[in-house]
Amino acid sequence: MKPLPLLNLVSRLEDSLWLDPLVAGVKGTVNSIVRFPWLRDVLHGVPLGHPVHPLGVQIPMGAWTSAAILDAVPGSDRAAGILIGVGAVTAVPSAIAGFTDWSELHEQQQRVGLVHAAGNLAATGLYVASLVERSRGRQQRGKLLGYLGFATVAAAGFLGGHLTYRLAAGVNHSEDVPHRFPVGWHALAPLDELVEGKLERKMVAGMPLLVLRRGERVHVLSDVCSHLSGPLHEGKLEERGEPCVVCPWHGSVFSLHSGEVMGGPATAGQPRFSTRIENGLVEVSLPGAG
Ligand code: FES
Repeated sequence: MKPLPLLNLVSRLEDSLWLDPLVAGVKGTVNSIVRFPWLRDVLHGVPLGHPVHPLGVQIPMGAWTSAAILDAVPGSDRAAGILIGVGAVTAVPSAIAGFTDWSELHEQQQRVGLVHAAGNLAATGLYVASLVERSRGRQQRGKLLGYLGFATVAAAGFLGGHLTYRLAAGVNHSEDVPHRFPVGWHALAPLDELVEGKLERKMVAGMPLLVLRRGERVHVLSDVCSHLSGPLHEGKLEERGEPCVVCPWHGSVFSLHSGEVMGGPATAGQPRFSTRIENGLVEVSLPGAG
């Protein structure tokens, strides 16, 4: 089956450079409003282990979908109005979470994301206008604006799906590591070849690993950042009560002891490899591999 022509249009949006000045302006505004690292982590969904935004949008989408159905049922005007109001109010926190995620994406993703956000803002505006009309007793105009809002939010939702499933924004970019890494112990490098206290990249079974030697102890994580595949060996070491690596692309922080996220925007931890030293040779094994 051939994809819809609409898909070509969306793909063209990814390379629409004319959006970039707007992207830069909105990004600056988002970063100046959502400033505190702890708040950014909460909005990204670090405590949950996955992004908050897709979860948050369930409430306005559910409310607005129900309102669209009720608007077709005689005698349900009041209930439809309440649901539209609930949708408009709950759209605000999910939009803030979405903008926070969006501020730390790749350029192509940000271009599509900006249009996705503009569609959602336009839909919210239509719903607010619908509420105003309803409050003035103009039910038919209110319903028409509500249906326009529904069509707009559905189009914006299409772009949201494109962002997640085609452009892989918000997904775990390390998820495939345990599926691709072979079971068992594998040679990494002679211990003597590893530079003390330096982040290094080593290839094992065709996969890039981040390695840090500290004395006789060797920490090994997948080198591909779970946020958007940044090369962690190009990042920097940071002490947060334990050795951590800071991703060079968007600053996610991962514990080198456990692979756990210590700071977003990443929400998924890095696969952490077990290590052992056999006759001076460092070997690695990934729990759960295969
Ligand atoms: S790629 Fe974005 S924080 Fe690593």
